[in-house]
Amino acid sequence: MTELDDPKHPGGLRSRGISYQEVLDTDTHEVPPVLRLQSDRYLGAHDVPVDRYISREYHELEKERLWPVTWQMACREEEIPNPGDTHVYEIVNTSILVVRTETGAIKAFYNVCLHQGRILRDHSGNTPELRCPYHGFCWQLDGTLKRVPSRWDYPTVRRDNFSLKEIRAETWGGFVFINMDHGAQPLTSFLGDIDQHFERYSLTDRYIAVHTVKYLRCNWKVAQEAFMEGYHTIATHPQILPATADEMGQYDAFEHYSRAINVTGVASTSLSWTPSEDDMAAVSFNSGNPIEESGSLVPEGMTFRTWGAQLGRNALRPIIGDAVDKLCDSEMMDAFFYTVFPNFHPWGSYNRIVYRFRPYGDNHKQSIMETYILQPFAGERPPPAEPHILGFDETHLDAPELGALAEIFYQDELNMPRVQQGLHVLPRTKPSGVTFGVYQYSKIRHFHNLYEEYLGVGKEAPKRMNDSPSG
Ligand SMILES: [Fe+2]
Repeated sequence: MTELDDPKHPGGLRSRGISYQEVLDTDTHEVPPVLRLQSDRYLGAHDVPVDRYISREYHELEKERLWPVTWQMACREEEIPNPGDTHVYEIVNTSILVVRTETGAIKAFYNVCLHQGRILRDHSGNTPELRCPYHGFCWQLDGTLKRVPSRWDYPTVRRDNFSLKEIRAETWGGFVFINMDHGAQPLTSFLGDIDQHFERYSLTDRYIAVHTVKYLRCNWKVAQEAFMEGYHTIATHPQILPATADEMGQYDAFEHYSRAINVTGVASTSLSWTPSEDDMAAVSFNSGNPIEESGSLVPEGMTFRTWGAQLGRNALRPIIGDAVDKLCDSEMMDAFFYTVFPNFHPWGSYNRIVYRFRPYGDNHKQSIMETYILQPFAGERPPPAEPHILGFDETHLDAPELGALAEIFYQDELNMPRVQQGLHVLPRTKPSGVTFGVYQYSKIRHFHNLYEEYLGVGKEAPKRMNDSPSG
């Protein structure tokens, strides 16, 4: 029996290249235990039906069973720093208003005027009170009724029965999350033990240096899945293969979140030539990576990894001080991309990237992909960048502030509408749906297993071979 005949043993379904754990063995610094975690959780080998990407029925099920009950990142705390600051977050056909109140607390309400149902605030921004632009019904920042024009004409309206309807708002890592389900478990309990993955690199002490908002002609899950595996590097981003150990990445699935670790500075096994350390430096693509400014020649006696890690520490030292000396080569060089169910994707270490994906309005064939670059800073917090909207007919190349990521994202976005198109054709040849890899699609399989649980569809419970991390 070959390993392909034995899909119940994920350990046997690993690339034959050097593993991430073996790369860690060569690190010049002490490796934190969280990088030694490996989840041996078998997530299935079944095909996934295409309906959930292309059918209106699934979109309606998401509106009923997913979006109203899940924690969603609505904004950064830094976007509403002062009393009266508001942020409008829209998910499908629901508008949510996040408000910094007079006391400094953060509250969230359905963004609708209780009078005649107009959307209460059209835009984010500061306001002394929440006043409907239509007839002027007005609420305090904490949601209590403040003023009713022609008060005499509304005998049924009282302060005690006309407060804005509050929904849950809780924070993590400098992000504000909302949840419309009052019975939902608290955000921190939903996130479980995720803090261990971020405690060495606070996401709170960051500012939004770049924020792009790209409209895409594909389902939101097609879009986010283009960022949940490194497998597509071989065909979509071949230019980075000399320094990217694409299929040797590590994938882990935890309760409501998952992670992938992709190694930089080890060449892909798919190459027919052996890149030098200088070749690897030349294709370094991380946004803001100091290697780009230092030329591409690796000093004698160093590897691209050890040199790049050292340059990274030097660049961070003015900001986080001697704490940089605790960061290992992997933390400085590798890509750690996390996914919190259903649509929030913070990268780890000082990778700085965060994605959020959601449908474009009430449309299941269009979506919004947002990218935040969260930079650490020294001294006073810089103001957050304004969102840069990239319309359907623009591309990420129109956002040069993304640096080298603009080209990577451009390559990704070329696939997305073609996937959406092809998913309509696929059932004619293979009704069972898309065929994901067993291991490299761990994050995507983990998502779909949870998705099935939430929607109550295609129920095939994940077979959990071993929930306890090893190593
Ligand atoms: Fe990609």
